[in-house]
Amino acid sequence: MNSNVRPESLERITTKELADKFIDEQVAQIREQVKDKKVLLALSGGVDSSVVAALLIKAIGKQLVCVHVNHGLMRKGESEQVIEVFGKALDANLVYVDATDRFLDLLAGVSEPEKKRKIIGNEFIKVFDEESAKLSGISFLAQGTIYPDILESDGVKAHHNVGGLPEDMEMELVEPVKFLYKDEVRVVGDALGLPHNMVYRQPFPGPGLGVRCLGAITRDRLNALREADAILREEFENNGLAGKVWQYFIAVPDMKSVGVRDGKRYEAWPAIIRAVNTTDAMSATVEEIPYALLHRITDRITHEVEGINRVLYDLTPKPIGTIEWE
Ligand code: XMP
Repeated sequence: MNSNVRPESLERITTKELADKFIDEQVAQIREQVKDKKVLLALSGGVDSSVVAALLIKAIGKQLVCVHVNHGLMRKGESEQVIEVFGKALDANLVYVDATDRFLDLLAGVSEPEKKRKIIGNEFIKVFDEESAKLSGISFLAQGTIYPDILESDGVKAHHNVGGLPEDMEMELVEPVKFLYKDEVRVVGDALGLPHNMVYRQPFPGPGLGVRCLGAITRDRLNALREADAILREEFENNGLAGKVWQYFIAVPDMKSVGVRDGKRYEAWPAIIRAVNTTDAMSATVEEIPYALLHRITDRITHEVEGINRVLYDLTPKPIGTIEWE
């Protein structure tokens, strides 16, 4: 039997009962596979790795070592939530690495998008390698592979797979959700008691805010982007759009325009809002955000975020515009 084909006996997981059944089966299987050995997991805080972490914590507790690498390109509050949920609430064995300076120093002055992606991907592997070398007695590597990753393992995913791990790591894999579709992973995450905003979060690219801080990344512009993005997310949540719109974010280009603040000339960057709907990310339509909300978001971002003096709304569908700007 090809172990990369979803077993026919696996019923589509749509309810808490089915999720609980899946969890019980996986817990037993993981214990059987791992025995008293240790397992390593790169925990990004995204849906898939979070669900795998919660499953493994349930199955083997402290035999799981989670490594969270903060590359400095996370959204506001994300790394903090990983520490809160896994380090504190679930009392996991969590290694938190703040590698912000390493990533941002390497990225300084680099404006070419694919070069930026490569630097971020390679450095991620390096940091993860260094951290795992410090640990002893690790026999397994857990991964949040899901079924679409197996089905779509073509060039597209390879290019997107920042956070992919070194292939020469000689460890047996533990991939408990590899036959699940995204919606099923979410039902399982809910059943495991993970926070709603972690389980239902929108897709977030591996290189994170790095591909939204357009051109050569600087700390001040990255910071402005992170704050503006947090305001956009807060307003979408407060106005019922968070669960409805597939992906929404801010991009900040490397250009300034003239504005006025406190009666003085104020040169600053524009924040570009992107909010799209899609089913497969191959094509996408633009969400019709109510004008009143757009005005409110503009007002908040231009008043609350240092370095932003205009807010623009990207009305371009995909094709012709890709979802991300880089
Ligand atoms: P585009 O911009 O190609 O994006 O229309 C389609 C989807 O893929 C995400 N994306 C990425 N995901 N690493 C990732 O993990 C990347 O480098 C990357 N680039 C784009 C994008 O956010 C959208 O959901």
